[in-house]
Amino acid sequence: MKNRFSIAIDGPAGAGKSTIAKNVSKELGVIYVDTGAMYRAMALYLIREGVSAEDSEGISAKCASADISIDFVDGMQQVILNGENVSGLIRTEEVSAMASKSSVNGDVREKLVELQRKLASEKSVVMDGRDIGTVVLPNAEVKIYLTASSAVRAKRRYDELIAKGEQCDLAQIEADIIERDHRDMTREISPLKQADDAVLVDTSDMNIEEVTKALLDIVEEKCG
Ligand code: DC
Repeated sequence: MKNRFSIAIDGPAGAGKSTIAKNVSKELGVIYVDTGAMYRAMALYLIREGVSAEDSEGISAKCASADISIDFVDGMQQVILNGENVSGLIRTEEVSAMASKSSVNGDVREKLVELQRKLASEKSVVMDGRDIGTVVLPNAEVKIYLTASSAVRAKRRYDELIAKGEQCDLAQIEADIIERDHRDMTREISPLKQADDAVLVDTSDMNIEEVTKALLDIVEEKCG
């Protein structure tokens, strides 16, 4: 395997990207970069600044003053927003919804893509997101497009919420997933799509171990 290499994992929300990317990065002994967390940190900043998701000029103006960086503690990515570790604050539905809307903004994307490329130029990475194989790291050694049916993704999210003791409605979760997929796939800049040279892995009927093994096999095949 080369000294420095990049593995790009893209796909819709709930396909299992972050769990799988974490497992693969651990097996390979390289860092895992969760780019969704960066878009979430930016969304949290915009919410705090009182910017509306519909105000694209306001988002463009405000995003310049958000200083987002990442740090690793025990191998776990931490997202730092203007000096504050916000990793524990970005997993709410409010932040998810704002991240999905504000990530269509070209200025937001330009700023975060620059940070992502810088990280990959310094270290070997497993990086997950929506546009990693297509835009951020078009020369990544391995590109995976991880997906699953919306019904399966909704059920996984439903089970997670129920396990946390939260009330939720399966049909509503699936409707939200379909709406978010649509927005991510049809936005003008860097829409979610499979790169021509990405390997498609449909995880609908696979468990975490099977998907991790499938990806490690693909890495082995591509990088030796
Ligand atoms: O993967 P996630 O749910 O944490 O991502 C949050 C939002 O950020 C999601 O709506 C899509 C957006 N995103 C993006 O546009 N590009 C990326 N590389 C990663 C996430």
